[in-house]
Amino acid sequence: MSIIFDKTNQVFLLNTISSSYIIKIFANQYILHYGWFPKIDEWNDMFAAPVTGRAMSPNPEIFEGKLDFSLDTQPQEFSGAGITDFRNSSIEIKSENGTIATDLIFKSYRILKGKPQIPGLPATYSLKNEEADTLEIDFMDPLTEVTVILSYTVWKNYNAICRHTVVKNTGKYDICLEKVMSCNVDFCGSRYKMLQLSGAHARERHPVFRKLVPGNQGIESKRTASSLQQNPFIALMDYDASETRGNVYGFNLVYSGNFYANVEVDQFNMSRVQLGINPFNFEWKIKPEEEFYTPEAVMVYSQNGLGEMSRTFHDLYRNHLCRGKWQYKERPIVINNWEATYFNFNAEKLFKLADEASSAGIELFVLDDGWFGKRNDDTSSLGDWFENKEKLPGGLAEISDGIHKRGLKFGLWFEPEMVSPDSNLFRNHPDWCLHIEGRSSSLSRHQLMLDLSRNEVVDYLYERLYSIITENKIDYVKWDFNRSGTEVGSGTATAAEQMKVSHKYYLGLYNLMEKITSALPDVLFESCSSGGGRYDPGMLYYMPQAWTSDNTDGISRLAIQAGSTIAYPASSMSCHVSAVPNHQTGRQTFLAERGHTAMAGTFGYELDLNKLNPVELKEIKDQVEIYKTIRKTVQFGDYYRLENPWTESSDAEITDFTAWNIVSKDKNQAVFTIVWNYPEANAPADIIKLQGLDESKKYKLTCPQSKTIREFFRLYSPFPMPEAAFYPFENDIVVSGDLLMKCGLQIPYRPHFGSSIQIILNAL
Ligand code: DGJ
Repeated sequence: MSIIFDKTNQVFLLNTISSSYIIKIFANQYILHYGWFPKIDEWNDMFAAPVTGRAMSPNPEIFEGKLDFSLDTQPQEFSGAGITDFRNSSIEIKSENGTIATDLIFKSYRILKGKPQIPGLPATYSLKNEEADTLEIDFMDPLTEVTVILSYTVWKNYNAICRHTVVKNTGKYDICLEKVMSCNVDFCGSRYKMLQLSGAHARERHPVFRKLVPGNQGIESKRTASSLQQNPFIALMDYDASETRGNVYGFNLVYSGNFYANVEVDQFNMSRVQLGINPFNFEWKIKPEEEFYTPEAVMVYSQNGLGEMSRTFHDLYRNHLCRGKWQYKERPIVINNWEATYFNFNAEKLFKLADEASSAGIELFVLDDGWFGKRNDDTSSLGDWFENKEKLPGGLAEISDGIHKRGLKFGLWFEPEMVSPDSNLFRNHPDWCLHIEGRSSSLSRHQLMLDLSRNEVVDYLYERLYSIITENKIDYVKWDFNRSGTEVGSGTATAAEQMKVSHKYYLGLYNLMEKITSALPDVLFESCSSGGGRYDPGMLYYMPQAWTSDNTDGISRLAIQAGSTIAYPASSMSCHVSAVPNHQTGRQTFLAERGHTAMAGTFGYELDLNKLNPVELKEIKDQVEIYKTIRKTVQFGDYYRLENPWTESSDAEITDFTAWNIVSKDKNQAVFTIVWNYPEANAPADIIKLQGLDESKKYKLTCPQSKTIREFFRLYSPFPMPEAAFYPFENDIVVSGDLLMKCGLQIPYRPHFGSSIQIILNAL
């Protein structure tokens, strides 16, 4: 049993595989938080925050004049509003009388086997009752008689607890929910660093670290998407925590819309972590007998640094969030035509690209934007999901047949949630977009967002997607989303309902995704939002992989990808090799380096193969062949960040090189990669200690690129290569996991033969 109720101390111990989360029922009234520790078997209240009277902290009337208890001085599980706690509230209920003070008084609890799902929302799931237990704690607000239920699912095999909140109007009058968090955790103390994953378009998920200071520090999105700018993830880390050391607490919201993540350090240095739907533009009226479910917050604890926290998220998401046939299936190697042709393609060009892809051993051809309506640039046609017969006179059927005949699977791009003002859909249904009567609607990339809070819009999209996909034997869908929501309102909502629209949009979208993915179980879906603008667990529930970033530069990708692996598994990270000079940065990088970097996730290409020379084509063929031998390890193994491309003191500083090691679950294979972040002459040498290997196993180390490199230099090098430059990577060497982890690999100064080394380790 992973949930223990200690009657004497009136304490719940939520025990994950190696951690304990302590909840206290205080005076049979309030629920306090007593800590989140390495696993303990018993509790003693002497370890709790002392209950002492503090000047300026008021005392709830319920304690009849006792001056020593105030919610303001206690770590709480979930905080009411406007009562004796002045910190950020976890919930604000506006009652019939117009006030928002909310008090939460403990009523009862239940312990359930397994994990209940959250209606209409993506969430982690357990298929077997023995995998997890769930604690539900009921509170009641005395004035409104509203019931608030805190739900905690405790995973037996992961250091993870998943939480959400349910608000049930068990009172007599309508109430209005102004704010409700998915989780609240009060830490005693503030000696922590906060980690967030921040950035911008083409620069997503760069880790940023800061020491907590008194007051509020947080991140949020008000963009009607989880966003490119901030990921719905934060972590608190000990000051000296690193990849391999120290306490780390990670929080991730399973939601793709507006979110709020905040840490408030109070007057006594207690730190309150909150995560949930952003209260901005959110108000939810609840009539008697109705209820509201928040999205789920996933909380992960690691005693051994950030790396272990990441691997817990990875395993939990791969095993209990991703679903369907593709959950554990090796993902195909892609050629995508976007950076090869942009909008400028016809059947002949596509087939020429497919011919080269097929001879390189690539497995899936993706036709990106521009195949529908009259779309030849980004100014029109979104919403008109009918093929562009001027551009493709044989239609999609001809392309699909031709691609399949070449031995490739066929994938197609959609941006279902959008409409172009220049489209038949908009001309026929101008009110189907999000808009506010009387206000002009702002365009972004010449497009508007459809109003997915309306069922008829969801139905239209389902019909169009289903027809196109089934009629043309589509094997893969890239589901894009390329603008942020503005003037968010609905043509059908009443004034009282307008502030529901942002969240109802996501309920509509999730409904659409649930329907289409379950109707088409064989199709592999990849989410995308101008790259990684909705790279969140909500999307992962429906689509097991995501386009990581529109920035395909082999060096920029190092931080974007390593940052993504902080919370998300490599199987979710779609990574493509593109052309040089890179289309986003203009940078020249070696093809080997681009390949090595892209091989850290689900692999593919996004360039015109017809423009490459025979040596480059051969190198691509080799890369494809290599990836096939390591793909299971990469996509489903354990990811170790050995050297990161960022420093904790400043995002602007970069380190000399980035290195990672991915180890198969049985530890029989590992893929070690090192990439030099910038060119440096006569750079210092270094040693990298590998992680995650089996110390008792002997591994054969091979460097597959060495032959290609030799060939490359034979043909192109202006100077002769000294033999030593290839040593020891060309010749297979055998060495134990023990030595590799304790003594490390001697990394030569930046090799003459490129800017990266990939070494594959196979256990003998
Ligand atoms: C944004 C995506 O991130 C790109 O990969 C590409 O699909 C374009 N949209 C197409 O418009």
